[in-house]
Amino acid sequence: MKEQLQALEQEALAKVEAASTLQELQDVRVAYLGKKGPITEVLRGMGKLSAEERPVIGELANTVRGNIANAIDEKKAGIEAEQLEKQLAEEQIDVTLPGRPVAVGGPHLLTSIVEEIEDLFIGLGFEIKEGPEVETDYYNFEALNLPKGHPARDMQDSFYITEELLLRTHTSPVQARTMNALEDKRPVKMICPGKVYRRDTDDATHSHQFTQIEGLYVDKNVRMSDLKGVLDRFAKQMFGEDREIRLRPSFFPFTEPSVEMDISCKVCNGKGCSVCKGTGWIEILGAGMVHPRVLEMAGYDPKEYSGFAFGMGPERIAMLKYGVDDIRHFYTNDLRFLKQYHQA
Ligand code: PHE
Repeated sequence: MKEQLQALEQEALAKVEAASTLQELQDVRVAYLGKKGPITEVLRGMGKLSAEERPVIGELANTVRGNIANAIDEKKAGIEAEQLEKQLAEEQIDVTLPGRPVAVGGPHLLTSIVEEIEDLFIGLGFEIKEGPEVETDYYNFEALNLPKGHPARDMQDSFYITEELLLRTHTSPVQARTMNALEDKRPVKMICPGKVYRRDTDDATHSHQFTQIEGLYVDKNVRMSDLKGVLDRFAKQMFGEDREIRLRPSFFPFTEPSVEMDISCKVCNGKGCSVCKGTGWIEILGAGMVHPRVLEMAGYDPKEYSGFAFGMGPERIAMLKYGVDDIRHFYTNDLRFLKQYHQA
């Protein structure tokens, strides 16, 4: 029996030595140390042994078992270390390799100009508001002193969705919405950038969809000189400190008096050239003092409050500032055009 156990030990140790994977090692463990293995078998036959032999063989069997188990554990640690080594070698990262270039985008010119104008007005204490692009006839027209049938509605050819719903033709409805929403009728100082829509045929200066930025300041004692001061700051900050502004009388149903603002032509410095069509001035926005009817309809007492409003097209501002000659460039998204205006 002693020889049998020693032979088993030699056999098992040889197999452990020969094993090269964890699975093979596990097979050896099951084969020799498992419940159905030969060592268990030997121990089972111990009943037939004499009282002197029994402890000797028992001890030997345990030693053999221990030796095999140790050999398996050692071998297992060796295989695992080898595998780890191999994995580390395979997954090594060469941090000195050059990276793959990532194409970095940039804001659209229109986005940049709107943000620049927003920053400028935030600096003057204005808040930013937004309103819906699908607007009610009431806010787009009626609340702005343009009742149904008013001839001035023709100034803005509209896309109607139903009798009472349309795509807003300007951002002015946000004036009425903002004032209406304020329960306590406190002063308002806001600008509202957003998309507007008109039934125009697209050409170099017209687009059926374009952008506007509305401005509204309502408070006690707001005067025309306040409007002029704000617009003058805007023009100078946007186009250069040497620009002059000029207000010309105009008409909008929601402002009285109404004006159009020109800036002195940057190209010829006011002398007259093809850009300003020989006049020395370039029109950039419409404005005026909020009509008392508009204040009243929004719940503001025109005897207590007054205000100014203005509306401008950022595409036009960008066209003048950067010499863009066609409004369609803002919407056709030709990267060759857009990339010229990316600031890194
Ligand atoms: N809403 C006018 C337009 O689209 C512009 C404007 C706004 C004029 C505010 C006066 C005051 O033409």
